[in-house]
Amino acid sequence: MLNFIVDDARCTRCGLCVKDCPVRIIERQGDACPTIIAAEAGDCMGCQHCLAICPAGAISILGRSPDDSRPLTSGALPTLAAVELLVRGRRSVRQYRAENVDPALLKRLLDALANVPTGVNRQELTFRLIDDRAVMERFKAKAMSDLRSALAAGEIPEAMSSIGRLPVAYFEEGRDLVFRGAPHALIVTAPPDAPCAREDVSLALAYFELLAQSAGLGTVWCGMLSWVLSARPNLKTDLGIPEGHLHYQMLFGYPAVQYARTVQRDDGARVERISI
Ligand SMILES: Cc1cc2nc3c(=O)[nH]c(=O)nc-3n(C[C@H](O)[C@H](O)[C@H](O)COP(=O)(O)O)c2cc1C
Repeated sequence: MLNFIVDDARCTRCGLCVKDCPVRIIERQGDACPTIIAAEAGDCMGCQHCLAICPAGAISILGRSPDDSRPLTSGALPTLAAVELLVRGRRSVRQYRAENVDPALLKRLLDALANVPTGVNRQELTFRLIDDRAVMERFKAKAMSDLRSALAAGEIPEAMSSIGRLPVAYFEEGRDLVFRGAPHALIVTAPPDAPCAREDVSLALAYFELLAQSAGLGTVWCGMLSWVLSARPNLKTDLGIPEGHLHYQMLFGYPAVQYARTVQRDDGARVERISI
C-alpha cells in the first residue's frame, strides 16, 4: 500500500511529481489531482521524490506527511565553501579522548545517516554500533588475544600471518594499531543480495565521516579491522555481522588532537576529460 494521498486544496496541478517520479508511476488526468497508475504501483521505490518536490506540500506517501519534512528554503543548505572546507579539512584521527560520545549526538548523527542514498533505494543497511568504550575495550582485548592464540597455533595462513603479527606485537607494547585508541566503532553491514551492497556500505560510512567531523568528532576508516575479521571470522559474531553480509567499519570518538590546517592534495587524483 503506497498510501499516496494528494491534498486537493493544496495541489496546484503543476505536474512536478509526475515528471520527477523515477519510475514514472504517477499520472494526471485533465484537471484532476495526480494519482498512482494502479497497475504500476509495485514499481514504487519508496524514494519519496513526489513528497519532496511538491512546492505546495500536497503529497503524502507511505504514511509520511510533507508537514513532517524539513523545508529546503533558499540558503538552507550549507554553502559550497563550507562543504569544501569540510572535505579538505576532515582528517583520519588516530588519537582520542577516553570518553563516550554524548548518546543524543550519536542518535542525531545516525538518524541523519539513515537518509543516505542506497542502490534502488533498498535501504537494507544495518548500523552496528559500539557506543560504549567499555565494550570497545572488551572487544579489543578479545580480538587481540584471539589473534595471538591463532597465530601461535598456526591457524592463520602464512600469507596473512606476517601482517597479523604486527598488531599483536604492538598491542603488547601498548600501541593500538587496529583500533587506534578509539572509544567507538560503527560497522555498516548489507545483505549480499542488495543491488549495490558494497557501494551502499562505503557511502554510508563516507557520509558518517562528514557528519561526525562536522559535529566535532574524530573518525578513521578501519581497514585493519577488516583484516582481523577475515583472519578470525569468529569475531564477526561478537559484532553481530550476519554470515555472508558485506561490512566495513569506522572508528570514532572525541578527538584528542586538532588539525590547524588542511593538507594539500589537489593533485591527488588524475582528472581525464572524456570526449567522444
Ligand atoms: C578504506 C580505508 C581504509 C583505511 N584503513 C585504515 C586503518 O585501518 N587504519 C588507519 O589508521 N587508517 C586507515 N585509513 C585512513 C587512511 O590511511 C587515510 O585516509 C589516508 O592516510 C589519508 O589521510 P587523511 O584521511 O587524514 O586525509 C583507511 C582509509 C580508507 C579510505
